[in-house]
Amino acid sequence: MKVLVTGGTGFIGSHTVVELLQAGHEPVILDNLYNSSIGVLDRLETITGVRVPFYQVDLLDKEGLKKVFDENDFDAVIHFAGYKAVGESVAKPLVYYENNITGSLNLYRAMKEHGVSRIVFSSSATVYGGDFESPLKEEFGTGTTTNPYGTTKLFNERILTDLAAADQELSAVLLRYFNPIGAHPSGLIGEMPNGIPNNLLPYIAKVATGQLPYLSVFGDDYDTPDGTGVRDYIHVVDLARAHVAALSYAEGHTGAEVINIGTGNGYSVLEILHAYEKACGHEIPYKICPRRPGDIAVCYADPSKAKELLGFSTVYGVEEMCRDSYRFTKENPEGIL
Ligand code: WQD
Repeated sequence: MKVLVTGGTGFIGSHTVVELLQAGHEPVILDNLYNSSIGVLDRLETITGVRVPFYQVDLLDKEGLKKVFDENDFDAVIHFAGYKAVGESVAKPLVYYENNITGSLNLYRAMKEHGVSRIVFSSSATVYGGDFESPLKEEFGTGTTTNPYGTTKLFNERILTDLAAADQELSAVLLRYFNPIGAHPSGLIGEMPNGIPNNLLPYIAKVATGQLPYLSVFGDDYDTPDGTGVRDYIHVVDLARAHVAALSYAEGHTGAEVINIGTGNGYSVLEILHAYEKACGHEIPYKICPRRPGDIAVCYADPSKAKELLGFSTVYGVEEMCRDSYRFTKENPEGIL
């Protein structure tokens, strides 16, 4: 299928483009390069041998978006494009709602006007809020999001669900990610957060490569085996492959379907840190600090629906996630320019 990948030069988007090509699809990337770099296209060509068509377009640019759809007969869309920093969303809610909601509405409008009726949407476990005990199931309620970023994910899920209810042709697969980490085993693409990382793995990676002095462990007094926060970390290549499976599902079904994409296993901050020490071959300094506001103790997926509906299950473990993350960060200390 010819697939528009919005946000396709980003962390998860770029890994998904690799897997789409390897599955025989024809991806086209749309990205405004706000949180990624044009150099990713060269890396994708090195990995796959394909120069993926690229449009530097912002989803708020309706004319630019129309041109992309006019020039391509898409069979489907995979929608990653959106701002995703939780803390930044609290400080800049209007920017987040305009970019992540208005931008998405422009995309959905363009799809409708060009007869594109399949979409895989990048959602997040953050829509569950903190009201439920893990393992989290898709039928659990949502709505108690604690930040504008998570709320934009929830709103997009609701919008796509309503669009699918009104249009019998539309297929919308809404993938709720848990904690994507790692990098492509080639070391050519990976996670490149702007500035000081907010998330655990890119922060640990910068400590491991000597770019930051130590990791602040946000709390060791949670009700978990070692007191530190527990999360469901999933290798970004596994997550990318889930999108290929979701695309096949969308091709054969209509309606909206919510699916968790996680491993079903929870690892604590200290377990991840020690796994990373094995991957990099040396100790990683850390300090126990106060809890981070808004954090919950435990969050991991019930992955059974992805297995049942998509025939998908994860392959990589924490060892490979840390190994691949370290390789990419060591070989690209300044990211991809
Ligand atoms: C993981 C654990 C922290 C940094 C967020 C978003 C979620 C999704 C994934 C997009 C927690 C601890 C972290 C640090 C630490 N993003 N930690 N020191 O908060 O589970 O989820 O990213 O979809 O929407 O909410 O991920 O990596 O920030 O934190 O101790 O410097 O690591 O307390 O227990 P989180 P995270």
